[in-house]
Amino acid sequence: MTKKAHVYIFGIGSGIGEGLYKRFVSKNDPNNLVFGFSRKGKKELSSFSLESPGTFQFDAKDNQSFVQFESYLHEFYKQKTKDSFSIVVYFALGDGVFGPIQELSDADLQSHLDLNVISLIKLTRSFAYILPNSSDSTFVFLGSTAGKQGFPNSVTYCASKHAVLGICRALREEWKPYGTKVVHVSLGAVATEIWDTRPTFDKKDMVSVADISEYLWCISRLPKSIFVDDLSITPKKGIL
Ligand SMILES: NC(=O)c1ccc[n+]([C@@H]2O[C@H](COP(=O)([O-])OP(=O)(O)OC[C@H]3O[C@@H](n4cnc5c(N)ncnc54)[C@H](OP(=O)(O)O)[C@@H]3O)[C@@H](O)[C@H]2O)c1
Repeated sequence: MTKKAHVYIFGIGSGIGEGLYKRFVSKNDPNNLVFGFSRKGKKELSSFSLESPGTFQFDAKDNQSFVQFESYLHEFYKQKTKDSFSIVVYFALGDGVFGPIQELSDADLQSHLDLNVISLIKLTRSFAYILPNSSDSTFVFLGSTAGKQGFPNSVTYCASKHAVLGICRALREEWKPYGTKVVHVSLGAVATEIWDTRPTFDKKDMVSVADISEYLWCISRLPKSIFVDDLSITPKKGIL
């Protein structure tokens, strides 16, 4: 029997996550069950089940979403036999907070860290319980060049993206016993809504959503023995 891949994409409401979800669905691969999550998901989270792939409402700033998601996840996989499935997870949710640090409000700081850091830790914690039963699983985190170097007017964003790199490095070590792949993708500029508040940057200079979706989709196809830890991509101009 061919093993099914259960593909989870968080952040399918717009931008990279939306493009990636469409990329997976367009393949119509019967061995992939594709589940998308974000506030703009079509179905209520209460209807999430392994039998009905689709997009589901999930608010990463609402603790109830995590509690509900985790309890469904554990319930579904309790009944699965070991190695009958693999898991592929993409974390494409996030926002940007930019501006001089003296203008940063406590509310914006907390909200950004809740979405870009805390939500990733909580979600990976939920999946951790089922990893002992799965093999060939892959987790892809969308990091940034801002996770490796500093930019002005970007203290909060640089902090959260450095944290994403730290999460990946730690999980990679912690999940070695399960053979889980943890891939950090250090992204340069991609033409999405995240840039809408920064008109000095021209979207024509950026990687397109269709191209990055293709690239990210390929990560789910890595040969079994290939473990990629850190990928860096930029548009033609390099760092904008
Ligand atoms: N674009 C770039 O140049 C670039 C570069 C480096 C890294 N990245 C990273 O890539 C990721 C995706 O960014 P993007 O460019 O695609 O931005 P985007 O178009 O603004 O997408 C953000 C995504 O996050 C979801 N989201 C926002 N708030 C949420 C919440 N409370 N709960 C659940 N989902 C929520 C949105 O869906 P809903 O609105 O439906 O909730 C949307 O799907 C981010 O982590 C970003 O830091 C982007």
